[in-house]
Amino acid sequence: MIVQFGSARIELVLGDITVQRVDVIVNAANAQLAGGGGVDGAIHLAAGPEIMEELQRRYPDGCPTGSAVVTSGGNLHSRYVFHAVGPIWQGGGIKESGLLESAYQICLSLAEKHTCRTLAFPSISTGVYRYPVDLAAEIALRTVAVKLETSDQLDLVRFVLFDQGTFGSYARVLETMLI
Ligand code: APR
Repeated sequence: MIVQFGSARIELVLGDITVQRVDVIVNAANAQLAGGGGVDGAIHLAAGPEIMEELQRRYPDGCPTGSAVVTSGGNLHSRYVFHAVGPIWQGGGIKESGLLESAYQICLSLAEKHTCRTLAFPSISTGVYRYPVDLAAEIALRTVAVKLETSDQLDLVRFVLFDQGTFGSYARVLETMLI
């Protein structure tokens, strides 16, 4: 599914983010930047040990929730990996939505700063961190769409969704945004 926003487009694909050929791949990391399972594990496995060494060297204090840090792409097809830290879902009462929005916004700003034109996001926080996927999709897609309306740097934001249920949630939200 592809939708045009301003001069750029949002694409939804079902698949594995580690094989995407884009300028930057976003990782769903933890605040310690310590690696883990899910998309984080898959990215580190595909990228090789270089990006973990870079994380430890450049960001020994980790990264706050709602923010992101940059490394090279290691063995991936991308120039950079942005390691974004989404919130752990705790019922919605601890400003999770603002933190998730901020994680996406910071990645989009970093993409502009590093002159990236194409970027791939996973569904941040909706795995181990248990953020309800319908709510997370709404925040992810609206935050990106707002940015694309005014950005002449970005050409493509691709959401790479790992299972049919997550893809379906994002597709339903994106369809409502066309009306
Ligand atoms: N490509 C794209 N998406 C993937 C991939 C992949 N290769 N592998 C998993 N996913 C999907 C999951 O199915 C889920 O929909 O990424 C989404 C986010 O799930 P998690 O990876 O669990 O991320 P998150 O919920 O943000 O939790 C972060 O998990 O592994 C740890 O170190 C990580 O502690 C951090 C926490």
